[in-house]
Amino acid sequence: MRAYEIVAGSSSLDGLRRCERPDPAPSSNEILVRVHAASLNFRDLLIARGHYMGGPGKTNIIPISDGAGEVVAVGDSVTRFKVGARVCGTFFRGWLDGAPPRQPLVALGAPPTDGVLAEFALFDERDAVAVPEHLSWAQAATLPCAAVTAWRSLVDIGGIAPGQTVLLLGTGGVSMFALQFAHMAGARVIVTSSSNTKLERARSFGAFAGVNYRLTPDWDREVLQLTDGQGADHVLDVGGADTLSRSIGAVAVGGKVTMIGVITGVGAAGSPYGLLGKQASLHGVFVGSRGTFERMNAAIATQRLEPIVDREFGFDDAPAAFRHMESASHFGKIVIRL
Ligand SMILES: NC(=O)c1ccc[n+]([C@@H]2O[C@H](COP(=O)([O-])OP(=O)(O)OC[C@H]3O[C@@H](n4cnc5c(N)ncnc54)[C@H](OP(=O)(O)O)[C@@H]3O)[C@@H](O)[C@H]2O)c1
Repeated sequence: MRAYEIVAGSSSLDGLRRCERPDPAPSSNEILVRVHAASLNFRDLLIARGHYMGGPGKTNIIPISDGAGEVVAVGDSVTRFKVGARVCGTFFRGWLDGAPPRQPLVALGAPPTDGVLAEFALFDERDAVAVPEHLSWAQAATLPCAAVTAWRSLVDIGGIAPGQTVLLLGTGGVSMFALQFAHMAGARVIVTSSSNTKLERARSFGAFAGVNYRLTPDWDREVLQLTDGQGADHVLDVGGADTLSRSIGAVAVGGKVTMIGVITGVGAAGSPYGLLGKQASLHGVFVGSRGTFERMNAAIATQRLEPIVDREFGFDDAPAAFRHMESASHFGKIVIRL
């Protein structure tokens, strides 16, 4: 089958290359999926650069966790899916529902586990979910990582309610899913971005206000001003070291900061003591379970929500898709068609 690999020891996008792999066949508990679209996350850049958890890979791996496709064969004991079903694999293997398991989680597309940038992918039947019917392959491919992370932060952990305020950093995949989910929940959303054009687009998707973090480096103060000094009930921190203390500065009394991303790195992040007087909380988030994915999909289907796809690339142009993400010129999700 046609595939891409990130080669062992890769430290840049030069480590991404085309390859041929044997066609896989399902064992008794597995489904074989013809992948129709894959979608990039920031982590896929980190993995190619050798900066993801655990450092550079020791073996070649097929990259990308997020994909959608059609079941083309099933093992003898499979009961959850039939040939022809439209599915996504889950980001983690074996986390079916509830609290995160205590044993280390295995995620798709990070060393040493193959991902989905290939014609075919194999999943244990328990590690896949049905795709909402109204979504195209490209839209469905965007769901497993960014959407589940945004949903878990706002709904499972945040318990979002109408009338609350949500602060989102930047206009990438996680933040734009969070914008759509928060808007759907009747919350008021403030978005930050380096680009006024992107802030305008965010308004067109329901954001109530935008703050340009380049022009307004103390964006936490601006958020307080926009909320009459109250701050945001939910802050999804995708920035990491350079943004976390301002995220804490912008959170409301009793609010929640979810610690999600590392765009600006994982170095010292300033003091967390602002949480104390506000009696606010900081909660680490690492995607979510299959149950969270399924409940999110039910809401997406009911609301006929359409994920924001910035741009689609052909399979031959997969390296250009990675570079597009590296340029940070995107708004929402980037997709590779297979
Ligand atoms: N913990 C988890 O489960 C989980 C799940 C998914 C993602 N993540 C992490 O979350 C982060 C975002 O992932 P993603 O896939 O959504 O990324 P993405 O689509 O590449 O979005 C990145 C965006 O962040 C914004 N940004 C860049 N520097 C910033 C800064 N200094 N302050 C505020 N915003 C900044 C930019 O938006 P503008 O162009 O609008 O400025 C950029 O487009 C990454 O670190 C990723 O690894 C974690």
